[in-house]
Parts: sequence; structure tokens; C-alpha cells
Amino acid sequence: MILSARDVHKEFPQPGEPLRVLRGLSLKVERGETVAILGASGSGKSTLLALLAGLDGPTRGSVEVAGRELSRMSEPELARFRALNLGIVFQQYHLLAGLTALENVSLPLELGDAPEPEARARRALEQVGLVDRTGHFPHELSGGEAQRVAIARALVVEPALILADEPSGSLDASTGEAVMDRLLELVRSNGATLVLVTHNAGLAARCDRRLELVGGVLR
Ligand SMILES: Nc1ncnc2c1ncn2[C@@H]1O[C@H](COP(=O)(O)OP(=O)(O)OP(=O)(O)O)[C@@H](O)[C@H]1O
Ligand SMILES: [Mg+2]
Repeated sequence: MILSARDVHKEFPQPGEPLRVLRGLSLKVERGETVAILGASGSGKSTLLALLAGLDGPTRGSVEVAGRELSRMSEPELARFRALNLGIVFQQYHLLAGLTALENVSLPLELGDAPEPEARARRALEQVGLVDRTGHFPHELSGGEAQRVAIARALVVEPALILADEPSGSLDASTGEAVMDRLLELVRSNGATLVLVTHNAGLAARCDRRLELVGGVLR
């Protein structure tokens, strides 16, 4: 099992009663599985992904990735673990504006002290069809190109687990489809595991398993 969330609660403080977004959620994902997470806007999907990535901590409950409990790691340990084991594709691309496409993609390798960052980043950009855009800064890329750079960055370390939040959400239907084709293809050829948040039923149908986030739990 690559991912295990147990009885996870997430509350956000607010005046009066706290906002209870996740309410005893559990999730187990096997290596190599692709799992779609559906759910209404505001149901807590991005909140859940942030917890699975260790970018935020649960109010209660535990999250284990590859047998390591995230809350037991120190911040630097967690940053390194994330850089080497997790590929994260955010709802917005989060490319660094001051870095070229190639530099954005090689960054996780450099953070993890991995060998040959530049050559591997170049190969990752080749895989998403962007070998001729390596020197472009984010503002010089189209939306679909930027999203493909974000995917290359998520996949460059060949992570065991990829967490993707609506990765085709801001793209037109056919570009979105092409970006997702590429993501699923790369996930499957690397034997990686994918947890994909999406509103798109067609996309969800292409995953091995579909879960819906309702009332703070998955069903
Ligand atoms: N840092 C925060 N502080 C307070 N409330 C938050 C915070 N982050 C999220 N929320 C609230 O938690 C709920 C879930 O937010 P979340 O972003 O997880 O929804 P989502 O399912 O990803 O929605 P969407 O489909 O629109 O992206 C929302 O009601 C939101 O207002
Ligand atoms: Mg969201």
C-alpha cells in the first residue's frame, strides 16, 4: 500500500464553531492504482490533497505515504521526502515565474540532491512534447504548455505517488484531454500511483476507482 489516511479530520478555526471540512475520512490506495476523487466545489478535495502531500497537517488522524507517517517527520525531512517521492500538480500551475521551463522542472531534482538534474529535466520536457520550450519563462508559455511543464515537474523524479488537483481544469476540452492522456500514459508506464481530483466524469471514468467526497468523508 502506498497511501493510507486513517480517520482524518480537518477543521479550520473561524468565529464560533470551527469549519469541519474533513470528518473522519479514511483512504487506502495500492501501488499502481489510479483513483479519482470527485465532489462538489467546497467539499474539501484540495484540502485533502494538501494533507496527503504533507503540505498541511490534519487536526486529527494520520496520513502515511510509503509506510512513513508524515506528521512524524521534521519540516526539512518532509521537504526532502516530498521532493523525492511525491509528484504534485496543483489546481493552478505554481510554476516559478523567474525560472525557465527547464529550471522549473529540474528544481525538485536539485532539492533532492538527485544526479544529473538538467539532463533528466530535459527528458521529462521531451515526454510532454515541450523540448523546444525549455528556455521559455512561464509568461512565455500558453496555458496548456504551462500545465504540461507542471506535469513534467511532477513526474521528473519518477515519484511513486502523484497527486493531481484538477490538472486540466483551466484548459480547453481538447488540450485538457491531451494533457490528461499524457499524464495517465506516464503514470501507467512508470507504474506510479495517481490520486486525481476532478469534476470531469469522463476523466474519472478512466481511473481504476472513483470516490466522492461528501459530508467530509469519501464514499
Ligand atoms: N485555509 C483555510 N482556512 C479556512 N477555510 C478554508 C481554508 N482552506 C479551505 N477552506 C474551506 O474549506 C472548504 C473546502 O475547501 P477546498 O479548497 O478543499 O474545496 P474543494 O473541494 O477543493 O473545492 P473546488 O472544487 O472549488 O476546488 C471550503 O469551504 C473552504 O472555504
Ligand atoms: Mg479545489
